Amino acid sequence: MSSKKTHIGEHRLAAESMMLHHGYDPKLSEGAVKCPQFQTSTFVFDSAQHGKDFFNYASGRVDVPEGVEPGLIYTRFNNPVLEILEGRMALWDGAEDCLVTGSGMAAISTTVLALSKPGDVVIFAEPIYGGTDTLLNGVLSQYNLQAVGFNGSDGDKGLAQAIEKAKSLGPISVVLMETPDNPTNQMIDIAACKALLEAHDNQGGDKPVLVVDNTMYGPIFQQPLQLGADLCIYSLTKYVGGHSDILGGSCSGSKALINKIRGFRNIIGTNMDSHTAWLVMRSLETLKIRMNASSAGAKEVVDYLAEHPLVEKIYYPGLLTEEDPQYKIFKKQCSGCASTFSFTIKGGESEAFKVLDSMQMAMLAVSLGGTETLVQHPASMTHSSVDPVRRGEIGISDNLIRISVGIENPADIIADLDQALAMIG
Ligand SMILES: Cc1ncc(COP(=O)(O)O)c(C=O)c1O
Repeated sequence: MSSKKTHIGEHRLAAESMMLHHGYDPKLSEGAVKCPQFQTSTFVFDSAQHGKDFFNYASGRVDVPEGVEPGLIYTRFNNPVLEILEGRMALWDGAEDCLVTGSGMAAISTTVLALSKPGDVVIFAEPIYGGTDTLLNGVLSQYNLQAVGFNGSDGDKGLAQAIEKAKSLGPISVVLMETPDNPTNQMIDIAACKALLEAHDNQGGDKPVLVVDNTMYGPIFQQPLQLGADLCIYSLTKYVGGHSDILGGSCSGSKALINKIRGFRNIIGTNMDSHTAWLVMRSLETLKIRMNASSAGAKEVVDYLAEHPLVEKIYYPGLLTEEDPQYKIFKKQCSGCASTFSFTIKGGESEAFKVLDSMQMAMLAVSLGGTETLVQHPASMTHSSVDPVRRGEIGISDNLIRISVGIENPADIIADLDQALAMIG
């Protein structure tokens, strides 16, 4: 099988099938069925001329001639495992190209900084992951970049207001949003946002780049690039890695945008290491079955919580009714629900802590998308760095609990929640 084969005759292979083959040629690795780990920091050139050519291609000084392989140089630039992983992630996202990084935050910061210059404005939807919030509100100003937030629940209307605000500040480089967001699962209409950005004059410069952090639902339940986003980012630490044992990130999109961000990544060194890439490739083989299994489990847990007298509200798109404006966005953008959602309980922080401290099987830990069920308290943990007043406005209340349902038997997760909720009954 050709290592880049995507079809059998007219038949297009599904992404989950290509995760087992794409980009790897056993003939180049002694016939090994699995891609070996290339645990090396640097690569031997055939000749000095080859070394010179490879550097010219890698730096973009010379276009890679048709039919020529650019060649391996140094693992901060490229490595067979990293390249195969990037090719496979691009397949999931339906992207021309992809790059991987050492963490989700590395993907976000590398992307934002590569695309921005001093004086630019970065717009973002709130809530957004606490680390991203700190980057935007705490770090960017050091580089003379301004951040303008809008309430994600105001959707594209909120974005329109943020664009108006930005007009007096400077050109907009990037619009960054999570949809659904972490932790309240609010969704924003990606196509409507893209249309607003296309219509914005942006002080005569390039149009702002629309970046969706697809960590919560992707790539199985949502494909932002097909919905109008320019770039799709993941914390691969979550569902894609899927076993709570690695940190990683990725960014997919057009070749032109990814080349720009890759060049920046290679210089600031926010790369993924090849061993992690090898582990993520292994995870990709089971991504679809893991996400489907945890999604089915989460649905059972939601059904249980929805009937519980101490549960006030569940932030789970599968419960939306047709009258809710979010319903239409959910149906348009998502093919199902992933397994991470939040719910409020009767009471405040102490009741939430009591429930969390009482869980016997689910672990009290931040992160999400692993095979095991995790619970946490966004207001005091993942989103504690968000300004407390703002936190209240965007729904991160003291009685909010986030759960990432894993692949345990759902009846066991429900039994665990049942006894923990009984502690505050
Ligand atoms: C939605 C989202 N994006 C990005 C990140 C950051 O990812 P990482 O921890 O891999 O840097 C997280 C981490 O929790 C997240 O939840």
